[in-house]
This record gives sequence, structure tokens and C-alpha cells, in this order.
Amino acid sequence: GQIQRIIAHSYHLKRTSLPWLQPQIRLGNGKISTAKLRMPSQSLFNKSIALLFNKRSTRTRVAAETAALLLGGQTLFLGKDDIQIGVNETVRDSARVIGGMCQGIFARVGAHEEIEELARYSPVPVLNALSSLWHPTQVLADILTLHEHAYLFDSSVPKPDDKNHLYTQRHRDLQPVRPLTITYVGDSANVLHDMLVALPRLGHKVRVACPENDKYRPPQAVWDRVVELGCDKDILLTKDPREAVHGADLVVTDTWISMGQEAEKEQRLKDFQGYQVTEQLCREGGANPDWKFMHCLPRKQQEVDDEVFYGPRSLVFQVSDNRKWTIMAMFDLLFGKWDLMDREREA
Ligand code: CP
Ligand code: NVA
Repeated sequence: GQIQRIIAHSYHLKRTSLPWLQPQIRLGNGKISTAKLRMPSQSLFNKSIALLFNKRSTRTRVAAETAALLLGGQTLFLGKDDIQIGVNETVRDSARVIGGMCQGIFARVGAHEEIEELARYSPVPVLNALSSLWHPTQVLADILTLHEHAYLFDSSVPKPDDKNHLYTQRHRDLQPVRPLTITYVGDSANVLHDMLVALPRLGHKVRVACPENDKYRPPQAVWDRVVELGCDKDILLTKDPREAVHGADLVVTDTWISMGQEAEKEQRLKDFQGYQVTEQLCREGGANPDWKFMHCLPRKQQEVDDEVFYGPRSLVFQVSDNRKWTIMAMFDLLFGKWDLMDREREA
């Protein structure tokens, strides 16, 4: 349902915005015609979106700003040192004030409760740009990238740039991805949590290796949601990275030290010894010989070596490019379709 709809919409926006993805049509005389470049929906025309970021960001911020431009809207980047929130003003009052002038809030916060509070008091929709518990726009980019690369996992799916294959509108449509075994090795943080609640619903099995310490495993609030969505039966949790990569089609990891955990660096580096993603780990654990690799970035060498990260298995930059289109889809669906009239109606 909903996830597929967002992914399809993301790809639609990508294809509409990038000239080389325009559908090509074979004309009666045998020539190939490229349909005229279409303009994506201007659903943010005359709208302002607040990017309320109290942590650093490269991808999420650049994606948001460039995507809003294509939708005809404006963004306001409000970093933690720019505005009154948290220092001179409560989250509650800030939510009301910013939401009174903007048509959407994309917020990157520390504790997840902060974004809950923003959403409670904001008169306009609030979208999570990362919190302590969740990073929903990241997993959307992972999923779009899997669809675009479905041929890597399934030889019956035609390769999109196959020169011998006539491009048709139909061929350019996103292909279904066969059910995969997806392994996550590392710290149970925001990025993994959204994988746990999204991937099983798309038919994938998830295998996770985290050290055996409660603080490196999914917190109760996350696990409750996993169970509520019926995803738990498709998830294996182990402390052994070799066991986790068994049969893996895709291996994913994230930093061992998330933003805000810098003081724990020394302890974490010790506790995650043996969790680095390498060719050797995946060979010894019995991953699918064709396994592919993803990482949300930013990346440190400790969690994945250069051979994998910069090697042919890696889809990391395809994923980072796709942050733009999935965030654009969320902006269009959430902020673009919303206007002052809705607020009047809700009041
Ligand atoms: N993956 C991701 O969210 O990156 P940024 O922190 O740079 O936005
Ligand atoms: N888990 C990381 C993700 C960064 C995109 C963090 O929270 O810092």
C-alpha cells in the first residue's frame, strides 16, 4: 500500500525531472522520439517549508532544498543556532509560531519526543528528518534504489541500460523486487528501526547482528511497533555478524557512533569489534555471492572497509541521489496537498 505508493510517486517525480529518464517512443518511421520534458507538480508554489534541523545534515538538507525548488516552493533552513527554540522558547510555542507562517515543517531532532511535541502543537504537517528512534525518509531511498536495481537480484528483470533493449514506457516503469534477504550489521539506531518496520511489509526477510547489550538492540518502543505491524516474524536478531549475513542479498550498515553519542566513542569502538562489513565476513558467513551493499552515509571506515564501500557491490551513492526524489515525493504528498483551507476546516 502506502510505501509502494510513495516509491512509485518518487520515481514518477524523478523521471519527470531528469531529461535522460524521459520515456522514449518508437515512431512509425522507426525513429526514437523523446517525449518533451515535463515539469513536476508545482504543488509547493507560493509555499514555505521550514527545515528545523538541530543536528548536522548533508544529504537530507540538500535533498530537501533542491526538491522543494523543483516543486516551486521555498525552504527556510533553521539550524539550532539560528532560532529561539530550546534556548529562549519552548518547542510548543515554536511549533505554533513557525507553523503559523509556513506550510510544512521538516524536522531533525534529538530525542524522538521532541518531534512528537512539534507535531502535537504545529498547525501544519510535520515530517521526520531523523530522530533518536526513526529515520523514515532514509529507508524510502533504500527501497527506491532496490527497485531501480531489481535486475541485480533477479536475472529475469531486464537491465534498464541494455543497449539492445528498446526503451518503452513500460520498460522504464519500476520493476518489482523479488523477496530478498537483507542483513543489517551494527548499531540498532534510527536507520535500522525504519528498515524493521518497512522491509518485512514488502516481503523481505531481515537479519540483524548487534552486540548483546540492550543499548545496541532495538528499544522497546521500536519493537512494540514492529510487533504491531506483524513484522517480527520476518526478523532474526543475533549477536553474530557471520550468522546474520548468511544468505544475504543485501548488507546494510550505519555508523557505530550516531550524532549525539560522541562521548561514548571509545566504548563503542571496543564493543563493535568484529562488526565491520568486509568481503571476508560475507564470504565466511555465506552471503549470496552477488550480495550488494548500502549505507545511509556519512560513513566511517570502521563499520565498512574501502574495498566494499567503493567496490562494485556498493549502491551507496545511488541511494544518496535518491534521497532527493523520495523527499520530494513526501513534500508533494504531505505539504503540497495541504493548504490554509485544511487548517480552516480542521479548526
Ligand atoms: N543519510 C543522512 O541522513 O545523511 P545526512 O545526515 O547528511 O542528512
Ligand atoms: N544513525 C545516524 C544516521 C545518520 C544519517 C545518526 O543518527 O547519526
